[in-house]
Amino acid sequence: MIIAVDGPAASGKGTLARALAKHYRLPHLDTGLLYRAVGLNVLRQELNPEIEADGFAACDFDDSILGDPALRSDEIGKIASVVSVHPLVRTALLHRQRRFANQPGGAVLDGRDIGTVIAPNADAKLFIKATPQIRAKRRHAELRTQGSTVSLDKVLADIRARDLRDIGRAAAPLVMADDANLLDTSFLSIESAVQRAIELVEARVRAKTS
Ligand code: CDP
Repeated sequence: MIIAVDGPAASGKGTLARALAKHYRLPHLDTGLLYRAVGLNVLRQELNPEIEADGFAACDFDDSILGDPALRSDEIGKIASVVSVHPLVRTALLHRQRRFANQPGGAVLDGRDIGTVIAPNADAKLFIKATPQIRAKRRHAELRTQGSTVSLDKVLADIRARDLRDIGRAAAPLVMADDANLLDTSFLSIESAVQRAIELVEARVRAKTS
């Protein structure tokens, strides 16, 4: 079974994707990490994330980089969102993601274009949303635990800028697939959101097999 989980920054898609992977005993890929790895390479090699050829040059990385804690920083998230607009970067990362999705037994992938581009054949597709204010609060709390002193206003502005870039780009923009189920986590606890996500997947699987 392939489960696609898409949504904007700090919507809860990563938490839900991990919970679904655990529940169904499937391998999980956080595809944002791949774009973050490109971002980290861009920074380390002093390349320009706005330039497509520079982003493409940074796509040649070993899987070992995916465990680097530096990938989790806000700075790298921002660079990732800049390099991810380039079609050459997206194509360079496409096969890796498709291979993961189509492995025997299936997988759970979370990102922005899993249900639309990477795994349009997914058995269940969830599109996770939450208001920008709530997403900013979550991200702010997360950053504080990492020792950051950034203000809530700044985090909200960054989230809005990230949304605009993700939604507005020409290549694989952030958009809900026609056959996805919407899950708004704004006013749900993590436990309730996970419960709801499992129910939605179950309903899709039942509909497919009946
Ligand atoms: O959740 P957050 O936005 O902080 O980060 P992420 O999921 O790790 O993704 C970092 C950036 O990579 C996003 O802002 C997107 O622009 C980009 N991305 C993408 O374009 N396509 C994906 N499948 C995953 C991430």
